[in-house]
Amino acid sequence: MLTHLAQAVYVVAAVLFILSLAGLSRQTSARRGVTLGMIGMVLALGATVMLAADQSERPVGVTIALIIAVLAIGAAIGAWRARSVEMTQMPELIAILHSFVGLAAVAVGFDSYLTERAHAGYGGSVHLVEVFLGILIGAVTFTGSIVAYLKLSAKMRSAPLTLPGRNWLNLGALVVCAGLLVWFVVDPANGLVALGIMTVIALLLGYHMVAAIGGGDMPVVVSMLNSYSGWAAAAAGFMLGNDLLIVTGALVGSSGAILSYIMCQAMNRSFVSVILGGFGSDGGAVAAGSADVQGEHREILADGVADLLRTAKSVIITPGYGMAVAKAQYPVADLVARLRAQGVEVRFGVHPVAGRLPGHMNVLLAEAKVPYDIVLEMDEINGDFADTDVVLVIGANDTVNPAALDDPGSPIAGMPVLEVWHAKHVIVFKRSMATGYAGVQNPLFFKENTQMLFGDAKDQVEKIVHAL
Ligand code: TAP
Repeated sequence: MLTHLAQAVYVVAAVLFILSLAGLSRQTSARRGVTLGMIGMVLALGATVMLAADQSERPVGVTIALIIAVLAIGAAIGAWRARSVEMTQMPELIAILHSFVGLAAVAVGFDSYLTERAHAGYGGSVHLVEVFLGILIGAVTFTGSIVAYLKLSAKMRSAPLTLPGRNWLNLGALVVCAGLLVWFVVDPANGLVALGIMTVIALLLGYHMVAAIGGGDMPVVVSMLNSYSGWAAAAAGFMLGNDLLIVTGALVGSSGAILSYIMCQAMNRSFVSVILGGFGSDGGAVAAGSADVQGEHREILADGVADLLRTAKSVIITPGYGMAVAKAQYPVADLVARLRAQGVEVRFGVHPVAGRLPGHMNVLLAEAKVPYDIVLEMDEINGDFADTDVVLVIGANDTVNPAALDDPGSPIAGMPVLEVWHAKHVIVFKRSMATGYAGVQNPLFFKENTQMLFGDAKDQVEKIVHAL
């Protein structure tokens, strides 16, 4: 009876997860999306406790006490991390969380095999394949996510690891795993050896695949690992015969894959080359050669920018990672409100990979209560720069680099960028002439119509607001 009820609740939870994802696709409905996801998760947990109580061989009280204890530990750590993490550390936190999903899939796989072995039936060939693939995907996700975490938190060099014949190494590892799978299914009694060897190979494969991806491709790697972690969870769902885990894993797996694809397009990287761990990649965007862009740059002070803004009719702000570092979104929102009150048309142009994680800028601007309808995407605003009086580039660099379009030799060549240089005046807020994330010098800084406003973005915007 309880099992049937739990299955029904699972269906409701699955629908809520789908509605949650749909809600998250737009800023205006994102809050509702999160709430629906949370309700779905509470229902899913409740149903899982019901199932465990109904099917467990242990006394119900012990099962429930165990689940509550584990939940309390996880919730306490999760709540502490969520409160203490800086927005700029979010990608590395996401990466390390993915590694837990991978580790869980490995643990579930071994547990499932050992439990079935105790019953001497091994659960049939299909189940054995599920176990094998679940552990394989989980192990790849586990080490891959740890490497992504280390690279994103600068605890490991972000340059790509390029071993000789690295593509053949990956392919070889997969061929050996295919052989081990056959052995495992044919001779499950000795399966632990095959599983053990495969796990070691998969752990090395995950490490190698992500280590081979460098600099500029890292954001795609995070969403790609998000996708892998979803498939690992789906595999665990198959092993446990848990339908909700299969549905949820598939949702995470496919939405992560779609996000990776969108980000690849935004950065002009090939999806296949990134997802296969740097196949055909030129090592991402860790540049060396193009740092020799030279020229004279002109400086401006906050008062000068205030003068320009006073006479401007249209202004576009293109924020980037520096706005997040400086926490400048609040004075920026203040500046926008003042200019709009004086009848100036102010809009934001947000590049799909501005900042360090998808939607980073949108979250910050929403946090500072900037109205959604003036925050436009790159494609929506790129045609409007020519008719714009002043563009404020606040802590953005790679995402406004004309070399991406003009210089075929640039490591970011072909990446679509915000074409800010078409505007009458461009003001670049940054602290120095240093390069951005991709390590490429930016010819925008030396253009006739560009002026540099050096200093912390928050301080400088506050000074402009003060002067106005
Ligand atoms: P970046 O190219 O990284 O440039 C940020 C700029 O902000 C730097 O030039 C820096 O110059 C400036 N800055 C830093 N702190 C500042 C402060 N306190 N005040 C003023 N300026 C400050 O940023 P972007 O244009 O947003 O491009 C994003 C880059 O990150 C892309 O290469 C992208 O591929 C990569 N990436 C994106 C993601 C996602 S998914 N969005 C994830 C990982 C990586 P100074 O040091 O001179 O101040």
